[in-house]
Amino acid sequence: MKVLTVGGGAREHAIVKALVRDGAEVYASMSNRNPGIAELSEDFIIQSDTDVGSITEWAVKMDVDMAVIGPEAPLGEGIVDELEDKGISCASPNRDAAQIEISKEFMRDLMKKYELPGRVDYEVFDDIVAIEDFLAHYEGDLVVKPVGLTGGKGVKVMGEHLDDKRDVIDYCRKVLEQEIGGESKVILEEKLEGEEFTLQVFTDGVSLIPTPLVQDHKRLYEGDEGPNTGGMGSYSQADGLLPFVDEEVYESSTEIIKSTLLALEKEGCRYKGVLYGQFMLTAKGPKIIEFNCRWGDPEAMNVLPLLRSDYVELCRGMAEGGIQDMDAEFEKKCSVCKYIVPEGYGIESVPGNKLEVDVDGIEEAGAQLFYASVDEKDGDIYTTTSRSLAVVGFAEDMSDAERASEEALSCVKGKGIHMRHDIGKPESIRRKVEHMEEVWGDR
Ligand code: AMP
Ligand code: GLY
Repeated sequence: MKVLTVGGGAREHAIVKALVRDGAEVYASMSNRNPGIAELSEDFIIQSDTDVGSITEWAVKMDVDMAVIGPEAPLGEGIVDELEDKGISCASPNRDAAQIEISKEFMRDLMKKYELPGRVDYEVFDDIVAIEDFLAHYEGDLVVKPVGLTGGKGVKVMGEHLDDKRDVIDYCRKVLEQEIGGESKVILEEKLEGEEFTLQVFTDGVSLIPTPLVQDHKRLYEGDEGPNTGGMGSYSQADGLLPFVDEEVYESSTEIIKSTLLALEKEGCRYKGVLYGQFMLTAKGPKIIEFNCRWGDPEAMNVLPLLRSDYVELCRGMAEGGIQDMDAEFEKKCSVCKYIVPEGYGIESVPGNKLEVDVDGIEEAGAQLFYASVDEKDGDIYTTTSRSLAVVGFAEDMSDAERASEEALSCVKGKGIHMRHDIGKPESIRRKVEHMEEVWGDR
């Protein structure tokens, strides 16, 4: 089967690897020359991910049968609607269904309208005076979110990035004036206390198959300090749960996603593809922080390499229906993913540094390499302003997986790069479990 993929990051490298492993011929569209994707694909074009017209034209010319879209931006631009118009089935949502990620207002309103479990208190504003009035009577901490997409970097949390109500007002004013996220609108949400985790499901809009849980690390610095990023690394456990998430929470989180899919169906925007739920486990159970209309990055790299069922078939099931008769088996291994990013990433990236990658050394360490936003020129690899590459260690034991990821990191040399070593280390995981116990202590 000929499959079009869109996107040139590490998540898309993981998607392409899984598709090729299961027999697909991949035709890749990407905005940078990702060497991993370039090597695995039958053919590729370098094109902006949001140039929906040109990508569709190329896909038709290449006579592809199916498409898998990596990033959210082309989904928000309606690439699936265009491709389906040309008879190409898609294992990704159309523009209407993608609103679940594209507009935080749509997502929160949907959860409120259908009284879905896992929802949080929120208000949407487009006027600074109304915000000042609201804050004058609000007690407790808040989170400020631009309504539109900001690549995970526009959210500011009171008590962390914002000291007090004055800071909240200043940041809201900035979002409204500068239209951060593409709109002059902001959401104020109750601040949730707990630990975050990711649950990604395969769905055709009616049935779903959950995949192993993952914990991402969004903060730039070790110890979960510093600004939010797209994600600096992540880990997953061999049993599909997390050290602070049991079977019961896994099931109730799956139910939250299921009820959201039903609500989308009732709204006339049936969702197909991978749906990603970002949860906060609170004293009152799991709550939705956000939905993403695609695989997570880095989370795709924890889950996809361990998939033992046929990914191409699962994509066909998502695209055309029939997920209820399918199964997804995963190898029972722990995974630890660590990203290498350019110095200044999340603040002001310094791109253009050459990386030396010992590919064989990474494999020998029991790890896998996923290229992200690097550029290949004359056989050499250079950093851009986004995340550069990720290594993922796999083993039956978490400590072994973590050690494998560290050994793999030492196989990458270059100036002007940054990474977090603490992800997946026993102290770091213990801190998260202790934090959760503290939160539960308040129950
Ligand atoms: P988002 O882009 O919505 O995923 O938010 C980015 C990050 O901000 C999340 O990963 C959380 O760490 C934090 N965050 C977002 N919403 C909330 C909330 N309601 N309460 C506490 N933290 C939040
Ligand atoms: N890991 C966060 C995201 O993919 O949005």
